[in-house]
Amino acid sequence: MNIALAVLLASLFTLNTANTTAVLENRDGRWRLPYYGARLANAADVTASEGGATRWHGDTRHLAYAAFGQPLVSMDVDKFGGLAVKHADGTITTELIAVGEKPVEIAEKGARHIVLKHRDKVYPFFVDQHFRAYDDCDVIETWLEIRHEEPGAAELSRMDSFALDLPRIARDYRLLTLSSWWGSEAKLSEATLARSQTITVNSRNGVRGAWDANPAFMLQLDGSAGEETGRVLGGALGWGGAWKMSFKRDWGDVVQICAGADNGAGAYRLDAGKTLRTPDFLFVWSERGRGGVSRAFHRWARNHRLPHGRALRDVLLNSWEGSYLTFKEQTLVDMMDGVKELGGEMFVVDDGWFGEGEFARDHDVNGDPAKGLEGGKCDAGLGDWQVNRRKLPRGLEYLIAEAKARGLKFGLWYEPEMANTLSRLCSAHPDWVMREPTRELKCGRGGTQCVLDLANPAVVDNLFDQLHAVWKTPGLDYIKWDANANIFNQGSPYLGRDRQANCWFDYTVGLYTLLDRLVKAHPATVIQACSSGGGRMDYGFLKYADEFWVSDDTDARERVFMQWGASHFYPASAQACHVTASPNHQTHRATPLKFRFDVAMAGRLGFELHPKDMTKDEIAFAKRCVADYKRLRPVVQQGDLYRLVSPYNDSSYAALMYVSSDREKAVVFLWGLNRGPNKDFPALVRLAGLDAARRYRITELNRLPGAAAHLRAEGKTLGGDALMNFGLEPMLANGDYDSCMLELKSIADQSE
Ligand code: DGJ
Repeated sequence: MNIALAVLLASLFTLNTANTTAVLENRDGRWRLPYYGARLANAADVTASEGGATRWHGDTRHLAYAAFGQPLVSMDVDKFGGLAVKHADGTITTELIAVGEKPVEIAEKGARHIVLKHRDKVYPFFVDQHFRAYDDCDVIETWLEIRHEEPGAAELSRMDSFALDLPRIARDYRLLTLSSWWGSEAKLSEATLARSQTITVNSRNGVRGAWDANPAFMLQLDGSAGEETGRVLGGALGWGGAWKMSFKRDWGDVVQICAGADNGAGAYRLDAGKTLRTPDFLFVWSERGRGGVSRAFHRWARNHRLPHGRALRDVLLNSWEGSYLTFKEQTLVDMMDGVKELGGEMFVVDDGWFGEGEFARDHDVNGDPAKGLEGGKCDAGLGDWQVNRRKLPRGLEYLIAEAKARGLKFGLWYEPEMANTLSRLCSAHPDWVMREPTRELKCGRGGTQCVLDLANPAVVDNLFDQLHAVWKTPGLDYIKWDANANIFNQGSPYLGRDRQANCWFDYTVGLYTLLDRLVKAHPATVIQACSSGGGRMDYGFLKYADEFWVSDDTDARERVFMQWGASHFYPASAQACHVTASPNHQTHRATPLKFRFDVAMAGRLGFELHPKDMTKDEIAFAKRCVADYKRLRPVVQQGDLYRLVSPYNDSSYAALMYVSSDREKAVVFLWGLNRGPNKDFPALVRLAGLDAARRYRITELNRLPGAAAHLRAEGKTLGGDALMNFGLEPMLANGDYDSCMLELKSIADQSE
């Protein structure tokens, strides 16, 4: 019997997914989570044998949620747990006791939801701990709802979504996270978590949650896990504001993991009667190494998180690197012709289309893309989301009509959370900008950019009205939502003087409120999360957006590393990967067009160049690539990822593949990086995820006219067993950035 969420004894539950079990127990009036791992038939087997190895790690360990002040909790592990509250009377401890549980009915098939109810033993302070588990991907979402009825405000100096002491389940823990900065997003970072050490990973940028680290991790048990072997606990925080995750391993190998929003400086003041919902924390257990965690997150994202996660993403051209701020109406129409010819499906106008009169976003439009990154100064207009008629005299309606006339969808760039001091918005509402009243306003990009105070509902209303007015224009299909600043003025003119520290959390709540309202009003609109490149690569924003811009660094070589890193947590369908001009505008490195396609086709393919700058031969090649991509995008965007050869392993090449869920089709990418002669041959790349009993026809794609195939197996039909056990032997003989892309198709006729 599949007891997905069943009461075994009055106080013992299992929260199961297809392959995992979490045991939940009310023991001695406290909620515990004594086991999380591979699926078990009997939860009672855990409680019958656990505990007692040392008298120091007593029975009150492994609470489902560790708070500061629990008696005997965390004798050695971080005493503060995940929740630290100063109650209205000044007491700084919280003793959570179990006051029941409540299954929640949810419509989604294969999902179940339970709430563990806690309250303080003395104070009217309540914590509802939610768990929602999904069979199809083994991911569990958890979050807290915190409220109280104390006679004054409670101050929360910690309010983590997750705070768990893992039992002593391993003797060697290794932590994998992503390091990120502008132009260098999602780079792998790994460290051993040694005894009596704490590793803290955080970002206090406030706006760009994926700077300078990404809010996601893999904790590998028994040392470094393999791609397909080993036990790994994966976690991710659905929050793009300031956040913190900490991993403490005590003297006896108990590991405490805490993850949640970070207040920056000062405690969060929570008024009586108000409910604070913490960010979602997502966790998954894999017995199949890092690859197992990645595939689980990808499936969860596609099936349960991204607004249109099961839809295929369009091939688009974004105007930024092709014209920066310097476009005119005709530039954009020419680009539309270009993307149409290439076989693309959407055209997106980037920065520079808005602002009126003295605040029009054409200040200093004397730029030349060849001379600088942006070809303009970007110092005006943010906040004024009306069309810049000097540049676009016939308005958006004209551009949309031109796009539609070519059968293209149409998208538009925004940076709604920001304003320039040179804007109508700022001139009319200087108090809508985040700042401290007594300090000089520090500005970012262009010397005039500041962050709007989204803690203020009036600001959220204004932005909703401005955006809604444009978004309802028929034919506007896609929004690129950018954000190029961090919270450098740490104060909210709206919040009272006693709750300035709330501004970090409330900013993000305001942002998500705005997004929620817009997404509900425009359910078909697809949003791209962008924040100075990949600063918004997080599952907070991805509740509203279907994809993110991986990086402003569009150099294909750099993208191999970034896409590899991002793939640990985020699916290919969500990674916006654009073919750009060579030499690359960020690194000035020249790479072959084929290499640029082979890299970008491993994610959501697009362009960021002016097609008029392409030669006839390049256009002919690109058209073939786009056509093949459109045919194979169900596999790339919706298939299962297998990472084969890591670019981080001192290897001069990297390889990964996607397999369709029915294992009928696969796409393999092999990217040569900096390759010396006669060394590091990419021999025997063993494939994964195929059906060993089937035979697959191998076809190399993206071949240059007249070029020899990259492998002897080209055009042949080989068994899944041989492909996974013996492998393929491709040649990357043409120096740096030689690459190949293969299509595998299962062939019914076994005789071939
Ligand atoms: C930063 C983004 O990452 C770029 O793609 C581009 O949209 C610029 N902002 C525009 O200002």
